[in-house]
Amino acid sequence: MVTIRRARPSDADAMARVHLATWRSTYAGVLPEAYLTSLSAHQESLGYERGILERRGGHAGFVAIADGQEMPGGGIIGFITGGMSRRQAIAEGEVETLYLLDDFRDRGIGRRLMRAMASHLASLGAESAFAWVLQDNPARWFYERLGAKLAAREDMVFAGQKTTQLAYAWEPIHTLLTATATTKLPR
Ligand SMILES: CC(C)(COP(=O)(O)OP(=O)(O)OC[C@H]1O[C@@H](n2cnc3c(N)ncnc32)[C@H](O)[C@@H]1OP(=O)(O)O)[C@@H](O)C(=O)NCCC(=O)NCCS
Repeated sequence: MVTIRRARPSDADAMARVHLATWRSTYAGVLPEAYLTSLSAHQESLGYERGILERRGGHAGFVAIADGQEMPGGGIIGFITGGMSRRQAIAEGEVETLYLLDDFRDRGIGRRLMRAMASHLASLGAESAFAWVLQDNPARWFYERLGAKLAAREDMVFAGQKTTQLAYAWEPIHTLLTATATTKLPR
């Protein structure tokens, strides 16, 4: 059984662990190995803790917790963060991060985390929402499956490497609330 709840400052270490594990599996062969190895759990943890404490722009996180997981971090196996958008020209609300450990994918947990964030963004008054995704990341198909439309494409240099990021948007935000309304039964 997996439950979703609002993230607390004390979850930051576990969120950082999930962040590192997910980046290293998702971006192997996409981003430079040296960059992936250099990621610091301590630095990421400080960033997540600050975001949760400051709540700037309605920033919030939601964590997914698997029952009976004997792992550090109280069973946190994934999370989502977001708030009012840093790019209002694209959409009013923004999903900033969404990470799930490999063994917990394809069970509808990503959709449930998106549902929690969509409700949060709507409660802040956001009438639309978006997420950035690197073009080479298969998560773009997940966003399309949830009804998002390609809204922007930007070339950038990330980790010393040229890449392209895509903005996927839900306009109005109700399209995301509808797409995430039904969930698979937890396995
Ligand atoms: C993206 C991610 C959160 C998806 O979570 P998930 O729990 O596996 O997704 P769900 O099981 O909720 O899938 C919801 C729907 O999207 C589809 N889907 C999920 N990932 C997909 C993919 N890579 N390609 C195509 N469809 C996908 C599922 O098949 C499901 O479709 P359904 O409506 O027919 O059931 C997860 O794969 C992940 O953490 N990836 C690595 C981190 C990452 O890239 N994050 C995004 C950064 S921008």
